[in-house]
Amino acid sequence: MRSQPSSDGLIYQSGFGNEFSSEALPDALPVGQNSPQKVAYGLYTELLSGTAFTVPRAESRRTWMYRIKPSATHPEYHRLTQQITGQELGPINPNRLRWNPFDVPSEPTDFLAGLTTLAATSPAEQADGVSVHLYQANASMTRTFFNADGEWLIVPQQGRLKIITELGVLAIEPEEIAVLPRGLKFRIELLDASASGYICENHGCALRLPDLGPIGSNGLANPRDFLTPVACYENRDQPEVLVQKFLGELWATDLDHSPFDVVAWHGNNVPYKYDLRRFNTLGTIGFDHPDPSIFTVLTSPGTVHGQANVDFVIFPPRWMVAENTFRPPWFHRNRMTELMGLIKGTYDAKAEGFVPGGASLHNCMSAHGPDNATTEQAIAADLVPHKIDQTMAFMFETGSVLRASRHALDCPQRQRDYDACWAGMNKTFDQGSL
Ligand SMILES: [Fe+2]
Repeated sequence: MRSQPSSDGLIYQSGFGNEFSSEALPDALPVGQNSPQKVAYGLYTELLSGTAFTVPRAESRRTWMYRIKPSATHPEYHRLTQQITGQELGPINPNRLRWNPFDVPSEPTDFLAGLTTLAATSPAEQADGVSVHLYQANASMTRTFFNADGEWLIVPQQGRLKIITELGVLAIEPEEIAVLPRGLKFRIELLDASASGYICENHGCALRLPDLGPIGSNGLANPRDFLTPVACYENRDQPEVLVQKFLGELWATDLDHSPFDVVAWHGNNVPYKYDLRRFNTLGTIGFDHPDPSIFTVLTSPGTVHGQANVDFVIFPPRWMVAENTFRPPWFHRNRMTELMGLIKGTYDAKAEGFVPGGASLHNCMSAHGPDNATTEQAIAADLVPHKIDQTMAFMFETGSVLRASRHALDCPQRQRDYDACWAGMNKTFDQGSL
């Protein structure tokens, strides 16, 4: 299978949800069966199940690995002293919330130590719904990590990342994303001096492409633009630290060998990357604009039909051509909860205050929309076609209420005057104006 080229120079396999396969040594993959008595090169067979064995076939995610040592060869895990900041959720708060970017620490901080939980739909020990984290790092990980609580969608805002996984190596830069399945071991190295960004931790059904309905068989994120790595292994016997997140807590064990010792694998429970600049953006060519669901990149279905556990939605560069239309997002009060971030540029509903690396949270039924300055400009605008350019905003939209962490509510980055951007809006109503 020919990969779509990626500027990072690594080798990938193209597609979404495929039965991928890869071998770093010739004929390492068994043929015609998954678990032969003796595997080539003296490898051990190991299955990584992302779903229960018995889910419908279309939901099933699993990967067979052929590795130098089984993952089971480890001593007892012990709970780490240093835990993730923000694991404690704050008091219930229906207010609109917004944050300035968090700073990269000055002391050496790897990706794992640089995590802060911004909000979650359930306490960490329930691992239900979705959790949203920020990361700020200035050092590469030397330890390996896996997350037992869900899959990670990583959205870099600043700094490139090299992600070494059991199934191969990925690299991502801002405006690209990576998805790492629940349980997959990985280590993140920095390719620049520092790195910042967002993580959507999806505790629900694995992310997948949305249905396209009347759009047809093409458009939005196209399957061939998703890239999965190829097998790449280390045959190294030396001390390694393996950390896992289990119901929100970090636990570690010591290995005597590299955990990246998978020589061959096949399956559909895989890490992948996607370049958001390849999103085939659709919109109106008449009047009004569609619901923002038209910008859905990936979705995790919820228990209510059609209502996502979480949608990953982007607001990429696009032409605005709508006639006789208030072109920014309308004022709205939605059933779904919206957590937004900005990768670069400006967002067309906010004149100021929402900056790259920052975040906003508009919970279920909270009233929001364009700020005063944007509203006045939009009503007065000359409706010629124009392009919203040099921007990339995104939204994690979930069917459950997101509770900000206590840390996120108390931190200095929280904008305590956020409501003011809608204060003093002009009353333009004039009963006699028609
Ligand atoms: Fe909104």
